[in-house]
Amino acid sequence: MNQLNEIDYGTPEKISDQMVTIEIDGVAVTVPQGTSVMRAATDAGVNVPKLCATDSLEPFGSCRLCLVEIEGRRGYPASCTTPCESGMKVKTQSPKLADIRKGVMELYISDHPLDCLTCPTNGNCELQDMAGVVGLREVRYGYEGKNHLDLKKDESNPYFTYDASKCIVCNRCVRACEETQGTFALTIAGRGFASRVSAGQSQPFMESECVSCGACVDACPTATLTEKTVIMMGQAEHSKITTCAYCGVGCSFKAEMKGNEVVRMVPNKNGQANHGHSCVKGRFAWGYATHKDRILNPMIRKHISDPWQEVSWDEAINYAASEFRRIQAKSGKDSIGAITSSRCTNEETYLVQKLVRAAFGNNNVDTCARVCHSPTGFGLKQTLGESAGTQTFDSVMKSDVIMIIGANPAAAHPVFASQMKRRLRQGAKLIVIDPRTTEMVKSPHVEAAYHLKLRPGTNVAMISALAHVIMTEGLHDADFVAQRCDTQSFEFWKQFVMKPENSPESMAAITGVPADEIRGAARLYAAGNNGAIYYGLGVTEHAQGSTMVMGIANLAMATGNVGREGVGVNPLRGQNNVQGSCDMGSFPHELPGYRHISDSTVRSQFEAEWKCTLDPEPGLRIPNMFDAALDGSFKGLYCEGEDIAQSDPNTQHVTAALTAMECIVVQDLFLNETAKFAHVFFPGSSFLEKDGTFTNAERRISRVRKVMPPKAGKSDWEVTVALAKALGYEMHYSHPSEIMDEIALLTPTFHGVNYKKIDQLGSIQWPCNAQAPNGTPTMHIDEFVRGKGQFMITQFIATSEKVTQKYPLILTTGRILSQYNVGAQTRRTENVQWHSEDVLEIHPHDAEERNIRDRTWVGIQSRAGQTVLRAVITDRVQPGVVYTTFHFPESGANVITTDNSDWATNCPEYKVTAVQVMPVTQHSEWQKNFAHFTQEQLALLHAEQSAAASAVNQ
Ligand code: SF4
Ligand code: SF4
Ligand code: SF4
Ligand code: FES
Repeated sequence: MNQLNEIDYGTPEKISDQMVTIEIDGVAVTVPQGTSVMRAATDAGVNVPKLCATDSLEPFGSCRLCLVEIEGRRGYPASCTTPCESGMKVKTQSPKLADIRKGVMELYISDHPLDCLTCPTNGNCELQDMAGVVGLREVRYGYEGKNHLDLKKDESNPYFTYDASKCIVCNRCVRACEETQGTFALTIAGRGFASRVSAGQSQPFMESECVSCGACVDACPTATLTEKTVIMMGQAEHSKITTCAYCGVGCSFKAEMKGNEVVRMVPNKNGQANHGHSCVKGRFAWGYATHKDRILNPMIRKHISDPWQEVSWDEAINYAASEFRRIQAKSGKDSIGAITSSRCTNEETYLVQKLVRAAFGNNNVDTCARVCHSPTGFGLKQTLGESAGTQTFDSVMKSDVIMIIGANPAAAHPVFASQMKRRLRQGAKLIVIDPRTTEMVKSPHVEAAYHLKLRPGTNVAMISALAHVIMTEGLHDADFVAQRCDTQSFEFWKQFVMKPENSPESMAAITGVPADEIRGAARLYAAGNNGAIYYGLGVTEHAQGSTMVMGIANLAMATGNVGREGVGVNPLRGQNNVQGSCDMGSFPHELPGYRHISDSTVRSQFEAEWKCTLDPEPGLRIPNMFDAALDGSFKGLYCEGEDIAQSDPNTQHVTAALTAMECIVVQDLFLNETAKFAHVFFPGSSFLEKDGTFTNAERRISRVRKVMPPKAGKSDWEVTVALAKALGYEMHYSHPSEIMDEIALLTPTFHGVNYKKIDQLGSIQWPCNAQAPNGTPTMHIDEFVRGKGQFMITQFIATSEKVTQKYPLILTTGRILSQYNVGAQTRRTENVQWHSEDVLEIHPHDAEERNIRDRTWVGIQSRAGQTVLRAVITDRVQPGVVYTTFHFPESGANVITTDNSDWATNCPEYKVTAVQVMPVTQHSEWQKNFAHFTQEQLALLHAEQSAAASAVNQ
């Protein structure tokens, strides 16, 4: 896994059933039709010099360095743009070719600073390599003539520089921004000698459309575009493949290292989820891992008003265990519980739920998926039989119609958004169902055929109206339904959706979307050959979240859009390991693999392996834990890697519950919002410090590899094992791979998974077992996991969160590209340069009515509470709807959100809160109290640190 340099084949791989054989320098090579001569040569072990070609981009043919001779052809064709033809005889070396190549290099070098020894890419520069390859020994043209050597560097981007003096105008960056990223931020400005790469309208990078994905930096063959960390630290000396710890795309990265320090994170071109692409978070925003705010020593305190006291690991673990046992002795075994995190590995999550069930002796374990994708688990299990998305990301390249519902992949799943946009530029059609005009609705060369801009809270009305059109117009796939689905449930559903009250005309009054647009979108989805649905939290975080997930599955089944590539039902998971944390048994009613705790056969397997007796009763969900804390029956909580005080709705309710508990143990990198209410702090380790696996939104299990030792001395899994031992329950593992072996033993969908196989295959999509030894890219191919697909009735019931005269607007929440979830990581990176505070988007009409001016403070009042944010006036939101993000704790977005939740899973209704918005001049009471409390808590933290520092100095 230690690889710094990879083979660059020069042009992308071509897939074809037809093979052609050609001869290169006397060596026969057979390649798929359409393959370039350059790529075929590399296959044959012959390296043709190149500069403007790279295998992640379509060839451009501008540098003329890769010229070859082809028998029977005149001139010297460029090998990168010439496709192989059967029987071709190619020569890559001859005196004439050597002359031409030297001439080309001479021209480049005559306009290039010869400062190789002090250049940051010295030793990793393709221009330097090619000068060596062609044997350049002199440059006859000198520097006296016109050149670009004095051009100024653009250092505006916090992560990379653009040094125009080193640019050879190969166009690779421009093509990377277009083809790979899809942003089209770069052009070649000027002509001939004057031509230069330009961001936007010859702007600094930071002022252009650039989203800092880094694709141009990867593509650049010179030092023109270079990471600032490389400039500062020099070239890396070794590397390891690992997985991004941010979103559910699960991009694979090469962590390039010098000793124990990361020099840069380079997207892995063999990564099966990202194919060498990345976004600003994974590529650049890893500095939080060494941020000064990290807490590296275990700490305890009796009351939350006491100063923190640094103690040894043993003392902290024994204290936590004794507190938990004390509480259980006093208040019963069900008085404590734990929360697992979707940011932790599968192995860590598995251990926490095992600790709860085996050592706490109850099932009080829940996870942050409760507040995001729990309706996905419920809805897909009911209809299709498995709580997971059906496809690989690559499947989208075979879609003809893409429907995005309640998701903004450009902000939350950026690498997949780039892939989706690539398919859309090839001609696939797009339907967006979202209350807001997201970046997906219109981007360069991509425009949605339909944007159904519905009112928040009316998803189910919309899905029924779409189904109504499909069924009344006979657009469904009757054969698929007859063969694959439960026909009785289909008939019920059909009768239901065909009712006149579900027609687009009737539903238009509810959704606010004109009937003809709904009809058009339904026809497009049903009639396109392959229709794929991608959805996000805009579907799940509603009072009818589970109903909507089932409605989506109904639609896909009715149109035969399940069970092959290009189609499917695909939840876009927010955090890196949401899928995994659910798979690992983090819910109070389910053991790993989504098996109900009341199933005695399953329970007995776990009891035999874990050597304990399991409680057959489901435990408390997170909201029940809060309620029980307030009624005095729940008093102890172990919270690993989650920040419930910031992420969960109705903040005042959450903090009241936390204050009521007697022992809160937080395991995290930072003193997060929840830790301010804690009594024990276990310092956590970042993804760079641990071995394990993450499972992304495609069910893809990928390795996370330790590239540096844990800064606090213990891996997270070791802490859980030690806590279990202190509680009197022994767990015996010497490495996370052994935890995975146990998961595989006990979980049918994981039976075939082990670290060795993941290393061999790169990653594995579960189910992986005897029936699917190498995993399952596409699910439900011949039959649904539950047998016959089950249609479910999706009666629209309006949320109880109604707009009134007092609260006339609907607040909906979401994410932004540069920040991640509660922001604990990204706020501690240079990403704050793009987004340094949460703002409230409001439509010009609503702003004018309230006399609100752009960028001024506004108070947002709901039935739950009030906060103050800066207003941004924009027509991205519709009249009557306001929007904000929740990345900064001081914003208090969740002070306003309510306790309403999904009927089946308690997933909070974050997406619909009735509010009033008014101009104000000062922060809200809650914000003032928050600032005061934060100051107090930081003082209690620093009191200990100052004491420790003075003890060392004495
Ligand atoms: S960083 Fe990404 S978005 Fe920005 S110019 Fe480069 S390729 Fe384009
Ligand atoms: S910036 Fe780099 S990739 Fe872009 S044209 Fe210049 S040398 Fe080529
Ligand atoms: S798309 Fe997601 S997984 Fe990929 S680099 Fe960005 S944050 Fe990481
Ligand atoms: S590499 Fe073929 S023309 Fe540049």
